[in-house]
Amino acid sequence: MALWHLLIILCLLATLVSPHSRPFTTPTVTRFTDSFPHVKVDSTFSKAFGDSNIQFLNNGSMATIALDKISGSGLVSKSRYYYGFFSAAIKLPAGLSSGVVVAFYLSNADKFPHNHDEIDIELLGHDKRNDWVFQTNIYANGSVNTGREEKFYFWFDPTQQYHYYSILWNSYHTVFMVDNIPVREFKHRSTFYPSKAMSVYCTIWDGSEWATHGGKYPVNYKYAPFNVTFSEMELSGCISDPTTQVSSCSKATPSSGLDPLNGPDFTKLSQQQITAMDWARRKLMFYSYCNDNTRFKVLPPECN
Ligand SMILES: *[C@@H]1O[C@H](CO)[C@@H](O)[C@H](O)[C@H]1NC(C)=O
Ligand SMILES: *[C@@H]1O[C@H](CO)[C@@H](O)[C@H](O)[C@H]1NC(C)=O
Ligand SMILES: *[C@@H]1O[C@H](CO)[C@@H](O)[C@H](O)[C@H]1NC(C)=O
Repeated sequence: MALWHLLIILCLLATLVSPHSRPFTTPTVTRFTDSFPHVKVDSTFSKAFGDSNIQFLNNGSMATIALDKISGSGLVSKSRYYYGFFSAAIKLPAGLSSGVVVAFYLSNADKFPHNHDEIDIELLGHDKRNDWVFQTNIYANGSVNTGREEKFYFWFDPTQQYHYYSILWNSYHTVFMVDNIPVREFKHRSTFYPSKAMSVYCTIWDGSEWATHGGKYPVNYKYAPFNVTFSEMELSGCISDPTTQVSSCSKATPSSGLDPLNGPDFTKLSQQQITAMDWARRKLMFYSYCNDNTRFKVLPPECN
């Protein structure tokens, strides 16, 4: 066999290996995560469930939450927010993780059971492939019958290091970011947009039924506990008073004056961010509800 035959075969093989081992050069983007102060996790959040599976570390600046045979666990912010920038550096558990779901999300389902809003980042343990999946979703005003999911593979191994997962939510748009690269922008439409104050949640739970094709690849508790650590958390924006519903808004840092609600960097994506988002979506998005003609006879209006 000629040498160039061998080279062609090697190239073909290289394209078959898992996405995060591909040598991607990631686009350069503005680092929003550098702009906001880190909150203390232990004073900003309460334990929501699975208390014994929650540990605050480093003087409360980080938290590890665990899923074991007995329980998952979760944190909920003490305040509710009406718009802002929400971010966490997360390191996912290594090893076999099918059925494990790690979520960083905003919701007000506790307060509005029939017309709640939700903005979700969900990290789904791998099923057959040896890769975690990054999923986003949005519900507004109780639209729970219309899932608006999008799914991506990562351009890195999310179990090796901390990576930033961020949500920008203001009256202009909702933007999901991974390591500051926008992967999804949902523009505000008057008919469909999360527009009531929400709490911030960090959770880990058993999604065997939900996340793995009806329980095809359930959580294997031989590999438990599944521990996930949240660090460098940022929650900057408007804190909504529960009784008056009035929001008091703070600029990100008094010195920078950055305003995640109305600041020019936050009301629309820059050309650089759009280019980066196009890169991520072209290379790594493998599902969008907007392409799902099996599920939707008529696609939701924002898909046009
Ligand atoms: C995480 O995992 C270790 C065992 O591998 C365990 O000792 C620890 O308590 C776990 N849970 C948390 C919340 O850190
Ligand atoms: C730990 O946190 C408290 C506030 O919660 C702070 O006063 C103290 O200085 C911190 N200690 C260290 C070593 O950072
Ligand atoms: C939200 O839902 C409620 C009832 O479920 C409805 O009365 C209201 O008009 C809806 N609001 C918007 C903005 O769609």
